[in-house]
Amino acid sequence: MAKLVAEANIPATLSYAGRVERTKPQPLPKRIGGYGGAQGLAEYLCAEQVTHVIDATHPFASQMSVNAINACRETGTQLCALTRPAWDSVDGDQWHRVPTIGAAAEYLQGMEDTNVMLAIGRMHLAEFACAPQHQYLLRLVDKAETLPLPKATALFSRGPFSTEDDIALMRDHNIKLLVSKNAGGRGTYSKIEAARHLGIPVVMIDRPAIPERAEVHTPKDALDWVHHTSTS
Ligand SMILES: NC(=O)c1ccc[n+]([C@@H]2O[C@H](COP(=O)([O-])OP(=O)(O)OC[C@H]3O[C@@H](n4cnc5c(N)ncnc54)[C@H](OP(=O)(O)O)[C@@H]3O)[C@@H](O)[C@H]2O)c1
Repeated sequence: MAKLVAEANIPATLSYAGRVERTKPQPLPKRIGGYGGAQGLAEYLCAEQVTHVIDATHPFASQMSVNAINACRETGTQLCALTRPAWDSVDGDQWHRVPTIGAAAEYLQGMEDTNVMLAIGRMHLAEFACAPQHQYLLRLVDKAETLPLPKATALFSRGPFSTEDDIALMRDHNIKLLVSKNAGGRGTYSKIEAARHLGIPVVMIDRPAIPERAEVHTPKDALDWVHHTSTS
């Protein structure tokens, strides 16, 4: 998305929450950190005379997406979400779908101790403290000082990952259960394919609901949307 916008010579800023230590180099200027809710974002949009917002956040970043909807409505700014369709189970998948991260933790709470690959990022690990009996395998972007789970092994890597590597990883750690957010897209799908290959059940966390907004699935369509909704 950033490459297309830069090539089109559209003045733009990439907005990051600041969750990872280092961002990847990108061909656009960036700003890092929250705005102070929808009101703060609305003030920023006005101050910077922003005409278009492309919400390319992760499907589980629902607070930011709702803030963008409210701030754009208040300021009359055009808004479009660049999203990835959710994953659907296919033959060979053994999914137990849950509505929230908390519900996934509750599901694990009631289980006998086992080896779990917990692929949900860093932010919500503490919710699984209610199920301390399991041996957890975590995959995180940045090194963490302390982990809120008593029996956990953390690997540090940003991905994307290959199915072959994830099969080897799950074998090496004798993984018996995978917990995943339904992120959609290819970048993190390898673990789902690996679980299917190895016959490992998956606790699949459904996406949070986000109010309706204009939505596209490819960067090219998002760029076309910018052109179609621009007055000059
Ligand atoms: N949640 C995930 O599973 C996940 C996975 C991969 C990447 N990410 C990325 O990590 C970021 C944070 O995710 P989250 O789940 O913590 O978000 P969130 O719960 O929706 O947002 C919490 C707060 O973080 C700030 N924020 C979030 N995204 C921002 C952005 N792009 N630019 C500036 N401020 C932002 C906002 O603070 P203010 O209210 O102060 O503006 C927002 O209210 C998102 O941009 C998301 O795309 C999230």
